[in-house]
Amino acid sequence: MSNKKYDVRHKYDSTADRYDTRYSDIQMQKYFEIFSEIKLVKSGTIIDVGGGTGLFLDYLQSKKLTTVITDISVEMLKEGRKKNPHGFFVCADSEYLPLRKNIGDLITCISVIQNLENPQKTLEECYFIIKKDKHFVLTALKKLFDLEKLCKIVEKIGFNIIKTWLLSLEDITIIAGKE
Ligand SMILES: C[S@@+](CC[C@H](N)C(=O)[O-])C[C@H]1O[C@@H](n2cnc3c(N)ncnc32)[C@H](O)[C@@H]1O
Repeated sequence: MSNKKYDVRHKYDSTADRYDTRYSDIQMQKYFEIFSEIKLVKSGTIIDVGGGTGLFLDYLQSKKLTTVITDISVEMLKEGRKKNPHGFFVCADSEYLPLRKNIGDLITCISVIQNLENPQKTLEECYFIIKKDKHFVLTALKKLFDLEKLCKIVEKIGFNIIKTWLLSLEDITIIAGKE
């Protein structure tokens, strides 16, 4: 594992018990805004890449959807499992997801890519696991990422961009799909 990944993992491992207290409100606001724009799937498998403590699962509050949270920080995942024993928590680097092709009915990657060494590799993994005609939701900090450049990378991988907009908080959002 590279130094950067090791440092990122250590940072989140060592602050995992405080993450929800600090960020729950802001992340919930993001999920709310995203799913005011697109419909949430009613069935199938949701994969939240870099899903941390599973705040997205808290937002979903649905035991009917199969939800897989993947993250590089095992301590973040442990916090998630305490709250959501029905979720599936997978400790994995988003650049090498141990998941099969075409299994996701919705893939989310929310507030993650600022941490990544090679965001394109993670986006390629998301493309690999998403089913055709399903939504991929990507958010990125607007102070660090340029929306147009990010869209170009997303398109280069093969996604088609469905919608982009600025969240009221700190992120740009891209909704994309696989044709
Ligand atoms: C700001 S948190 C966002 C967590 C979650 N998406 C949310 O909405 O609350 C960033 C997350 O990305 C994870 N992360 C960073 N680098 C990663 C990598 N290479 N692979 C998987 N997860 C990673 C961190 O461990 C952390 O849980």
